[in-house]
Amino acid sequence: MIKVTYVAQDGSATTIEAEEGTSVMQAAVSNDLDGIVGECGGSMMCATCHCYVDEAWEERTGARSADEEEMLEGAAAEVTGRSRLSCQIRLDPSLDGLVVHLPEEQL
Ligand code: FES
Repeated sequence: MIKVTYVAQDGSATTIEAEEGTSVMQAAVSNDLDGIVGECGGSMMCATCHCYVDEAWEERTGARSADEEEMLEGAAAEVTGRSRLSCQIRLDPSLDGLVVHLPEEQL
């Protein structure tokens, strides 16, 4: 299992253990985490899975794709250099302990 910690705007943190191969969005949604909606189910059509990758993990999660970049333009909250669609971050053992921050709003 791979641990992912989601930090909300108020600073509260929730750690979820997820199966390898699932996405950061799926792990959140299947655990009813507030702050990740994932309306389109991960097909890069909604941007309601927006998150900010913690600085310490930026290199390991890699760069966003051009399609992801385009979809983020429609995100409800401010987009920064650390913004990602959490449905596009697949969990593998190198991401064990990953920390992501949640935006103020998703819709
Ligand atoms: S879940 Fe819709 S873009 Fe990620």
